[in-house]
Amino acid sequence: MSNEDRKDPPSGMRKGLTSYGDSGFSLFLRKAFIKGAGYTDDALGRPVIGIAATGSGFNPCHGNMPQLVDAVKRGVMLSGGLPVEFPTISLHESFSSPTSMYLRNLMSIDTEEMIRAQPMDAVVLIGGCDKTVPAQLMGAASAGVPAIQLVTGSMLTGSHRDQRVGACTDCRRFWARFRAEEIDQQEIDDVNNQLVASVGTCSVMGTASTMACVSEALGIAIPGSASPPAVTADRIRVAERTGVTAVQIAASKLTPDKILTVGAFENALRVLLAIGGSTNAIVHMTAIAGRLGIEIDLDRLDAIGRETPVLVDLKPSGQHYMEDFHHAGGVPELLRQLKPLLNLDALTITGQTLGEEIEKSGPGFAQSAIRTLREPIYPQGGLAVLRGNLAPRGAIVKQSAASADLMEHEGRAVVFENIEDMAARIDSDDLDVNADDILVLKNIGPTGAPGMPEAGMLPIPRKLARAGVKDMVRISDGRMSGTASGTIVLHVCPEAAAGGPLAWVRSGDRIRLSVNKRELTLLVSDEELAMRAEQNPVEPPSASRGYRKLFLERVTQADQGADFDFLRAKADGRRAPR
Ligand code: FES
Repeated sequence: MSNEDRKDPPSGMRKGLTSYGDSGFSLFLRKAFIKGAGYTDDALGRPVIGIAATGSGFNPCHGNMPQLVDAVKRGVMLSGGLPVEFPTISLHESFSSPTSMYLRNLMSIDTEEMIRAQPMDAVVLIGGCDKTVPAQLMGAASAGVPAIQLVTGSMLTGSHRDQRVGACTDCRRFWARFRAEEIDQQEIDDVNNQLVASVGTCSVMGTASTMACVSEALGIAIPGSASPPAVTADRIRVAERTGVTAVQIAASKLTPDKILTVGAFENALRVLLAIGGSTNAIVHMTAIAGRLGIEIDLDRLDAIGRETPVLVDLKPSGQHYMEDFHHAGGVPELLRQLKPLLNLDALTITGQTLGEEIEKSGPGFAQSAIRTLREPIYPQGGLAVLRGNLAPRGAIVKQSAASADLMEHEGRAVVFENIEDMAARIDSDDLDVNADDILVLKNIGPTGAPGMPEAGMLPIPRKLARAGVKDMVRISDGRMSGTASGTIVLHVCPEAAAGGPLAWVRSGDRIRLSVNKRELTLLVSDEELAMRAEQNPVEPPSASRGYRKLFLERVTQADQGADFDFLRAKADGRRAPR
């Protein structure tokens, strides 16, 4: 090892040498190999910026990956760095069986280990579809190398018989109408061609759009980067600026732990509430924070939710689509409106504070997608945290997308033991169910399904849908798509498969939901529940080999982000929100 190497931690191509027992030989060999691709010593002497590219033929949400990678490379080279693209796992919602959430932690491990294994002074994480951005941020937080997030951007909206449509709120709306026999096969086939009008992520405030906004609010993506649609010039310019910024964070050694602080998580949680964002983001943010030793406090989240109104008028809580949000000024305009509620001294990836970035965003202009604090879409935050004997460790309801007349409701439970049971019986004319009943689906939690699938929005039983019923209270230990709406209680914790009280609910029991009091109560005595538990003890699911075995043995519950226990950092007492 040279004297120079002893003074400074190695950087660029000297970083993380392959272990041959002779570091000089390791560097010699590495350079010899990469020179096979035509690099010069000048290029190889530059700061190396890794680009985690997640293009895949199975992932149309990332269909603009080649253009984004090109633009990031341009930004890196304009700033004197050497861009090096590398692949990781790519996850698309509709092409990940049994569910993309089952694979999120695997993608996070891939991302973390590839950042650590390969020589890079900073990394650009390009993701977009729901689980990819959380997986990348979880991995980058653990790897500890300067990192910046770039999202692929939303798809364009389409048009069906002169009606504007977009994935996936409208996918669900049209499918519900088809189930209710309001539209025929021809129309459902027609709309299928129009719901996804271009590459890019879902065009409403689903999980992908939510995580894009959350990334910008966290300060780990450049200002204004969440909202430009995938196929626009704005999106390409964001990519170039991301490349420029990546070289700067490599020089300043701005690691994720300096950005992803308690103050930053508070800001991002405020934004999550104000956009009426996806319930999934709670689980993902808990997992990202958990990689840095920070705990997300659900009760405090609920408390700040009571003072953080929904300002963004986007489906599924409102009317507009992501491209409208972009035209209205995107996250910078939202942050300007939320300014009195934010930690303005939080450091962002640009090296400036959030407050300084808000000042730079200008005075704003007349528009209709982002409201002011005085004229919100919904007076409280989009999400509420429920507690009670059915959910001792919490449950979530997206109140901004729920039916006002069902938020205080008591009803008879109609229970499905698992997804298969539900699929077999939900459309049966013999199903004993009324519009006032509460549908309960068990065993779709982290280990139950496994992977906590987005099956929490149980379909309205066909005979009730035909009769015009649009919404019912539905309760499960699973998740729902961020693009879905209804009075849906999710993430009941602990899950049924882990012996949570949900396991002991029987058809005919009565359940009381009070969103106002934040209560979810099974009206069955403790003695009766204890007797049921003793008579039918829960057998946790298991597997004999492979990733499934690892997953079932090490995945945590929803209140710990459904991360693997061995990937979380030791909690250091920091909690967000404070
Ligand atoms: Fe990829 Fe919706 S399916 S973002």
